[in-house]
Amino acid sequence: MNIPEITKDHIFEEVNRGRYRAKNRLFRSAAVTLNTDPSGRINDEVIGIYEKMAAGGVGTICYEAVPVLRYERLTQDFFNLPKDQMLGSYVNYFDSDDMIEEHKRLVSAVKKYDTQIVMQLVLSTYKRKNEDGSFNPVDLDNLTGEEFKEIENAFVDCAIRASKAGYDGIQLHLAHGFFLCRLISRFCNHRTDEYGTDRLKLIRNIYKRIRDNVSEDFQIGVKINEYEFMTDEQEKEEGSRNISAVPICKELFDMGFDLVEFSGKPAMRCGIKPYENEAYFQDSAYELKKLVSLNKDKTVAVTGGNRSPQYINSLYLRTGIDVYGICRPLIREANLPNRWKSGDLRASKCLSCNRCGSAVDCPFEE
Ligand SMILES: Cc1cc2nc3c(=O)[nH]c(=O)nc-3n(C[C@H](O)[C@H](O)[C@H](O)COP(=O)(O)O)c2cc1C
Ligand code: SF4
Repeated sequence: MNIPEITKDHIFEEVNRGRYRAKNRLFRSAAVTLNTDPSGRINDEVIGIYEKMAAGGVGTICYEAVPVLRYERLTQDFFNLPKDQMLGSYVNYFDSDDMIEEHKRLVSAVKKYDTQIVMQLVLSTYKRKNEDGSFNPVDLDNLTGEEFKEIENAFVDCAIRASKAGYDGIQLHLAHGFFLCRLISRFCNHRTDEYGTDRLKLIRNIYKRIRDNVSEDFQIGVKINEYEFMTDEQEKEEGSRNISAVPICKELFDMGFDLVEFSGKPAMRCGIKPYENEAYFQDSAYELKKLVSLNKDKTVAVTGGNRSPQYINSLYLRTGIDVYGICRPLIREANLPNRWKSGDLRASKCLSCNRCGSAVDCPFEE
């Protein structure tokens, strides 16, 4: 096995790129905690999870996907599972101002460690209310203009709430087949109105309204799939057509977005071997990085399979990609960044086996 040598440690350099200011290049990519509280409110247990992560030395934490619209109280909102397959625990919401205080506590627990924290905002699927009070999922091709406005308001309101709670920014979830991911994909968006002829219209509206209502230093980023999204059914019928999302990312940067984090399909690959097949979305991230290399205010991040400090360091030297997302490695071992920083350069112990159902759920010992 050929382990790249570390000539100079770039991982623990400060990152100062416009609004993105972190003590190192490691970025905890979002992972739902699947809280035990059916209200969707965070409690001391959730705050403790994030505090432990921050104490472990990661530079930035992306707080888990928060659904901006609440239809039912359970994880069904997020995972869109049939009722009989709902998981036994709950996603966290942030849909009311009276939740700001508890999020302030979470933010200050994290910031004690000089760690940045941004909140990820998501809509999995829009659901229309029936007369009997139940909800039905609606395909994005069939949404009304008013429903688009409702979605826009929900993202903006949640982002403003996040800024009031002290988060350093928000991240729009444009990846993993969720609503905004499908909206920007030519394979899923067949609308002929303004939301179809300009597939970024909703995102532009959301961006502008957030920017107008938060402080100048508030970061607005996205997590995005490296290719425009096709559903599994489309891939079966038409074969997969990999249309790069890099031009969309460039447009998002031109619009004003601060950070693009690359993910893709599937996001959580199994069988990652340190030094061999790490950073599986690096090609797209590198392509975007080359395109915006002169712009020092924009941050390109790559998530998925970052496992060893040697590989991350050599990838940085080769590509200049600014930030490196780690998710499962921190579920396995929250202290991983500090371990690397202290000179123990063994790769993450994470086996990439996907037995973790939530951000605190690794069955193996730390
Ligand atoms: C338990 C779990 C929960 C996750 N929840 C989210 C989420 O809320 N939002 C998101 O964008 N990605 C989520 N992901 C995907 C990760 O952010 C990341 O993209 C993926 O795990 C690949 O990175 P890794 O190889 O470092 O784990 C989750 C992953 C896991 C394992
Ligand atoms: S269960 Fe543990 S070892 Fe397996 S992928 Fe999840 S964090 Fe890694």
